[in-house]
Amino acid sequence: MLISQDGDVTVTNDGATIIENMNIEHPIAKLLVELSKSQDDEIGDGTTGVVILAGALLEQAQKLLDKGLHPLQIIEGFDKGCKYALDNLDEIKFDKNNTEDLKGAAKTALSSKVVSKYQDKFAEIAVNAVLAVADTARKDVNFDLIKIVGKVGGNLEDTQLILGIVLDKEMSHPQMPKKVTDASICILNIPFEPPKPKSKYNIDIKSAEDYKKLYETEQNYFKDMVDNIKKSGANFIICQWGFDDEANHLLMHNNIPAVRWVGGTEIEQIALASGGRIINNFKDIAVEKFGKAYEVKEVNLGTKNDKVILIELCLAKKAVTILVRGGSSMIVDEAKRCLHDAICVVRNMIKEPKIVYGGGAAEISCSLYVAEKADNTSSIEQYAIRAFAEALDSIPISLAENSGYNGIEYLANLKTKQIKENNPCLGVDCLKKGTNNMMIQKVFEGYNSKKQQIQLATQVCKMILKIDDVIKPHDLGENSF
Ligand SMILES: Nc1ncnc2c1ncn2[C@@H]1O[C@H](COP(=O)(O)OP(=O)(O)OP(=O)(O)O)[C@@H](O)[C@H]1O
Ligand SMILES: [Mg+2]
Repeated sequence: MLISQDGDVTVTNDGATIIENMNIEHPIAKLLVELSKSQDDEIGDGTTGVVILAGALLEQAQKLLDKGLHPLQIIEGFDKGCKYALDNLDEIKFDKNNTEDLKGAAKTALSSKVVSKYQDKFAEIAVNAVLAVADTARKDVNFDLIKIVGKVGGNLEDTQLILGIVLDKEMSHPQMPKKVTDASICILNIPFEPPKPKSKYNIDIKSAEDYKKLYETEQNYFKDMVDNIKKSGANFIICQWGFDDEANHLLMHNNIPAVRWVGGTEIEQIALASGGRIINNFKDIAVEKFGKAYEVKEVNLGTKNDKVILIELCLAKKAVTILVRGGSSMIVDEAKRCLHDAICVVRNMIKEPKIVYGGGAAEISCSLYVAEKADNTSSIEQYAIRAFAEALDSIPISLAENSGYNGIEYLANLKTKQIKENNPCLGVDCLKKGTNNMMIQKVFEGYNSKKQQIQLATQVCKMILKIDDVIKPHDLGENSF
């Protein structure tokens, strides 16, 4: 539970989020924050693992320094350890490339999270969202096309994927039609208001007649605007600005539903996704500038006044929205983070459809391989290589301890089992399903993600070992500048 300075509470088990929100002063600890951030940026998942591994490597380095090894020898040894670990990782990777496998990877990413109870549903949503926008030819996924919108209320189970855009808004008039099929969307960033002169102005109204004239002028102005829109063939309006009451009323009378005060970025997204253009002058309204949608509707999500506008698009591969529901803003926020992890995992698998088995299985296999290499090394580096192997053990040990086992004992058994059965898929049975075989449990992670974790953690540790002095500005003395 993270409590910010102004008392906001966040509950999460996302490594990157935790470490980013900690008030860290220590300069070395700050490097670890950066480390988890880079894992988050590149891969999106595995941010806890990378910090645990880096921490373990630093701990091992301290022991080696105490034994009298020179930092350069440790660096050399860790470098070799890392290389051996990656060689082994390459040996134990598997190809996975059907939709079921994508779901399996997403489920593994979700199973340690608050949404684990609904991991099936969330994994399916993540996979469908990514597949809807993925460019399979280029093996690329544009994340800007997947929007995750949270709305407090309902249950996590009510979370849904919408093939289109969700606006947290309602129709500008309660009597407007609630649904438009085959929508032609007029996207405006001009207000439905009478024009105002740019300089200061006064209008003196001296008689009832004057007032009537002004009223009529305004009326005609609105009438022209709405007529213009009606004639152009638009049947739905999205506007960045407000509507005058009169204009709103006229739109309702003409059966043209409209949404007002839509944010600038959303307006742009709608234009992009529906193939329309943003119009900033009433004279420019023309049918070729309208966006197209299969259906636009206003739906009420709960018992309260919880309305949203759903814009279901007809253009494939344009934009999808995941509408996350949950009992409180804390749950909704955490569910959004979990979905982000799952989406990243699926994207990575589309980019590189290779996996290694989770639950610490890959780390144990690498640790065994690296330790074997250390035994065959005669130079002093063997100590650092062996230490690298021990650092890799920290992941399965943590997983075992967090599942209520005795960490060291469980690890020892697993290692024996992996050697005896020559099976790199044996890992920690976190959910007590009665088998250590992660292939049967379908617990696997992206090969790239694991590779990146090992590489990044080693890099940071090497960087820290290379530091031989820490200098702060005030240490430099009076003559410094
Ligand atoms: N059902 C499971 N059984 C065994 N191990 C599992 C299971 N599900 C996940 N794991 C393991 O849990 C670890 C992932 O934990 P977690 O998702 O909390 O951390 P992370 O991925 O390192 O960081 P992040 O906070 O970014 O998700 C991986 O080593 C994974 O193999
Ligand atoms: Mg994870």
